[in-house]
Amino acid sequence: MSILSYPQRGPWGSASWRGNMSGHVYQDLFRQLKPRLFVDPMMGSGSSIEAAREMGIDAVGLDLHAGFNILRDSILAAVGKHADVVCSHPPYGGQIKYSGPGGMWGDIAHPDDLSHCIDDADFNEKMQIALLNQREATRPGGHYAVIIGDWRRDGKYSSYQAECIARMPADELVSVLIKQQHNTSSSRKAYGTMKYPFITHEYILVWCRRQKSTFLLLATLAREQSQRLRGTWRAIIRNVVMTLGGKADLKSIYAAVANGCPERLKANPSWKDKVRQVLNSSGEYVSEARGIWALA
Ligand SMILES: C[S@@+](CC[C@H](N)C(=O)[O-])C[C@H]1O[C@@H](n2cnc3c(N)ncnc32)[C@H](O)[C@@H]1O
Repeated sequence: MSILSYPQRGPWGSASWRGNMSGHVYQDLFRQLKPRLFVDPMMGSGSSIEAAREMGIDAVGLDLHAGFNILRDSILAAVGKHADVVCSHPPYGGQIKYSGPGGMWGDIAHPDDLSHCIDDADFNEKMQIALLNQREATRPGGHYAVIIGDWRRDGKYSSYQAECIARMPADELVSVLIKQQHNTSSSRKAYGTMKYPFITHEYILVWCRRQKSTFLLLATLAREQSQRLRGTWRAIIRNVVMTLGGKADLKSIYAAVANGCPERLKANPSWKDKVRQVLNSSGEYVSEARGIWALA
C-alpha cells in the first residue's frame, strides 16, 4: 500500500523528540526490503534503530548531535561497509530547529544543522549532498530513502519532496509513499478562515541504487537537468505561440516572451537565439512566410 497511517506512534525512540517518527514506518519498510544492515544517518532519538534491532536487523545510527555530519563525513566510512538500506529523516527545512537555543540539543545552532539553512535553495542543495552520501553508502541493488514533509509558511509552499526527487537519478526512484501525520500542532488549530488546508501528510521516497560510476551518475543527472531545461524552453515558446492564436511574427513572440521581464535580463540578447532555435529546430513550427511562425 502506498498510503500509510499509524494513529499510535508506538514505543520506539522518544515521543518528546520533536518531529519524532513512528517506528511502524521503519518496520513496514524493513518487512518490504528485508535489510540485514540498516543505517539512519540522522537518527534523532533513535526510533528507526530501535525498530530495526527489535526485528533482529543490524542497525547503525548517526546524527549531528552525536558528532556525525552528513554534509562533511562519509556514511560509508563511518559504517565501514555498504548497507542494504540507508534511510534518513531530516528536518523539514526550518520547521523545527534541532540544534541551539529552543531546539533539541546544543547551546548554539550548528552551522551544518539542516534545520538552520539560509533558505530553501540552501536546504535543497544540502539535501542533495545528504542523499548522494546515503546512496554511496548503499550496496548496488540496495535501497536509500528519505522521510520528508513539505512546509507552508507566510503564504509560501515549499515542496521539499519534489526537490529531492528532481535532484536524484530518475531511473533509481522506486517508491513514493504518503504517510498521514497525526497529532501535529497545526492539526489542533482551528483554521476556518484559512485559504489552504494544513499539511497533514509526509512522504517516504525510496530509490534503488544501480551500479554506476560517479562519472556516469553525474552524466545521468546532468542529462536529466538539461532535458528538463530544453523541455521548459519548448513548453514556454509553445504556450506563447498558442496564446498568440497559434501563429505569430517573431517580433510578437519575442515581446510575449519578454513581457514583464526586468530590463537587465532583456539586455542579454542570447535568449532571442534560444527562441529562434526552438522555432527552427524543434519540429513543432512551420514558417509560413519570412518571420511568421505557426504551430505545425
Ligand atoms: C526529524 S529529526 C529525526 C527524528 C528521528 N527520526 C526520530 O524518530 O527521533 C532530524 C535529525 O537530523 C539531525 N541533523 C540535522 N542536520 C544534520 C547533519 N548535517 N548531519 C547529521 N544529522 C543532522 C538533527 O540533529 C535531528 O536529530
